[in-house]
Amino acid sequence: MSEIVTLTFNPSVDISTSVAKIAPFSKLRCAPPHYDPGGGGINVARVIHRLGGDVSAVFPVGGSTGQLLRRLLRDEGVDCITVDAVSETRQVFTLVEDTTDQQYRFVLPGAPLSESEWNACVNEAASVQPQPSLIVISGSLPEGISSEKFGRAIRTIKACGAKVALDTSEGPLKAAIDEGIYLVKPNLKEFQDLVGVSSSQDSVLIDAGRALIARKAVAIIAISLGDDGALLISADRALRARPLHVEPVSVVGAGDSFLGALVWRLSRTPDLGDALRCAMAAGTAAVLRAGTSLSRVEDIERIRSEVRIEELKMAY
Ligand SMILES: Nc1ncnc2c1ncn2[C@@H]1O[C@H](COP(=O)(O)OP(=O)(O)OP(=O)(O)O)[C@@H](O)[C@H]1O
Ligand SMILES: [Mg+2]
Repeated sequence: MSEIVTLTFNPSVDISTSVAKIAPFSKLRCAPPHYDPGGGGINVARVIHRLGGDVSAVFPVGGSTGQLLRRLLRDEGVDCITVDAVSETRQVFTLVEDTTDQQYRFVLPGAPLSESEWNACVNEAASVQPQPSLIVISGSLPEGISSEKFGRAIRTIKACGAKVALDTSEGPLKAAIDEGIYLVKPNLKEFQDLVGVSSSQDSVLIDAGRALIARKAVAIIAISLGDDGALLISADRALRARPLHVEPVSVVGAGDSFLGALVWRLSRTPDLGDALRCAMAAGTAAVLRAGTSLSRVEDIERIRSEVRIEELKMAY
């Protein structure tokens, strides 16, 4: 039984390695590679599982990379519900140059999904039994998926009765909001694009968020602000998490770790402050770890008590 189901339309196998120095036209002899499951919803599921939550991950698998992805995720103990796809699952390649500590991330385009593969992913997520309390859809979409088609998928998933949490961007984010969902986790730029503001002032973001909440587009908005912390907005609360100053090793998967911890905590408690504290700790913990290894529970637990949450009292 899964309390939470994640849906990833564009998963990947993430390969990370390092090289002494990057130079053109020469053999770049790399360190032994590390393979991680990748893709928004898959990372969210990995974090929820580490935190002790019941979670299933729905995603398409294609070719030998798809098989590897499923094996890597099962090795971590995450329950997988897969849809066979014709095209090979994509790879993402992360390379660290040792002499400079610079990280280079090569993100290959996602494999296209046929109409029937797309529908199968949506229907698998919508038909998990017993019905989960929450379905998290996260990550980019494969080529050729229109906002309208994504909006229809949201409608199908909502019809099963579960709440929907979403982390994606641009047209599909707008289409989902138009259908009305439970929670969104945009970063600052994604939120500014969504609501058409250029300011990053808390009061402006809260006003714009409250307008979305008032028209029932969404109930909870968690805006992650990178090294500036995060802002959580609901109908009657605005909570500001101040940033923790850390030296980032890798920012890959910070947003997924944040969202995973947020929804896991919200599945256990109605306390938004507690959920935001846990999300901030997970986002911060993720940037302390190399490659796509995501946040570790011991780091989350340690950092959690250091996170400061302020209630922003505004004249509403
Ligand atoms: N440089 C940083 N220093 C400290 N904390 C960070 C940093 N970058 C990210 N975080 C933490 O991770 C959370 C999520 O990061 P961010 O807002 O960058 O998400 P995102 O843009 O969605 O990331 P992603 O690239 O994973 O999609 C932040 O709210 C913060 O807690
Ligand atoms: Mg993100």
